[in-house]
Amino acid sequence: MPVVLGIETSCDETGVGIVADGVLLGDALATSMDEHARFGGVVPEIAARAHLHAVTPMVRHALDRAGIGFGDIDAVAATAGPGLATAVQVGLAAGKAYALSLGVPLYGVHHLAGHAAVDTLEHGPLPDRCVALIVSGGHTSLLLLGDLARDPVVHLGDTVDDAAGEAFDKVARLLGLPYPGGPAIDHTARDGNPTAIAFPRPMTGPHDPPYRFSFSGLKTAVARWVEKHDDGAVPVADVAASFQEAVADTVTRKALAACRDHQVDTLLLVGGVAANSRVRALAEHRCADAGVRLRVPSPRLCTDNGAMIAAVGDLLIRADVTPDRLDLGADPSAVL
Ligand code: KG4
Ligand code: ZN
Repeated sequence: MPVVLGIETSCDETGVGIVADGVLLGDALATSMDEHARFGGVVPEIAARAHLHAVTPMVRHALDRAGIGFGDIDAVAATAGPGLATAVQVGLAAGKAYALSLGVPLYGVHHLAGHAAVDTLEHGPLPDRCVALIVSGGHTSLLLLGDLARDPVVHLGDTVDDAAGEAFDKVARLLGLPYPGGPAIDHTARDGNPTAIAFPRPMTGPHDPPYRFSFSGLKTAVARWVEKHDDGAVPVADVAASFQEAVADTVTRKALAACRDHQVDTLLLVGGVAANSRVRALAEHRCADAGVRLRVPSPRLCTDNGAMIAAVGDLLIRADVTPDRLDLGADPSAVL
């Protein structure tokens, strides 16, 4: 049973995971999040330097937690894209160095495949077909998935502007909440009324493309509302809860429409925004009503981590997929 070391460095998290035969043996995570907070978003150069410092210690931590040594590793998987170019390069270079020095194969992994595959570590193999709703800081997509190691992914629709997580981060900033905005809005919204303000549900009209998303108009609607009420009395919790409700309503509605239209009985909900308590609760509720099986990883595996990259490497090696060459380049805008 091959042991796969996975390395993720596409954004501000340095994640390392060790997986064998669909089981997570150990993982470790460092983040440069605090260093970006004062800029209100991730600064690529700072993220890349932080990865350089953190990647070796995180590999050691993950090995310790798995109770194994370098000699036990049978393959290395590293994120090859998409992501911040300099950040991806650090993890991929580290992955190549480990593969070369250990004499084991290297797999370059697509970051979004990692978000989907991580669920197998908690809930077992994916069914033959499922709809995946990937909602993260960089992406918002509805996909039709088959065998992750072999079948091409069918893109049903993507966002035409901002990603869902980006909208959370931008709205948090205009509400004066800290970076990253998603967890801050999730927390603040607990004290708010989700029906206080009727924010728009973008692209949900009868003539709109059913599986596409748009969040920049929603962000502008929140900005306008806050401007109008900028007399020191903005009910931040109500705005947060109402905005969160608009996102949760929109993404779950579209995901369930995709399941229904394609006669798929499993919805896979993944990516950083899948950690959101309201998105999870509404997805659960609507899936139960529609007779759709919902698969969603634990919150800590929804946001970027190394286990998700090791999970893909594990699927690839078990499917006998040919490894990548060591001159594999990073692809910052890789398409799944
Ligand atoms: O998947 P991820 O860790 O990184 C990317 O691949 O982009 O997603 C990060 C995004 C950020 O925008 C963050 O604000 C959002 O996920 N996020 C959340 C929550 N936790 C993280 N959004 C809403 N609610 C949360 N609890
Ligand atoms: Zn991600």
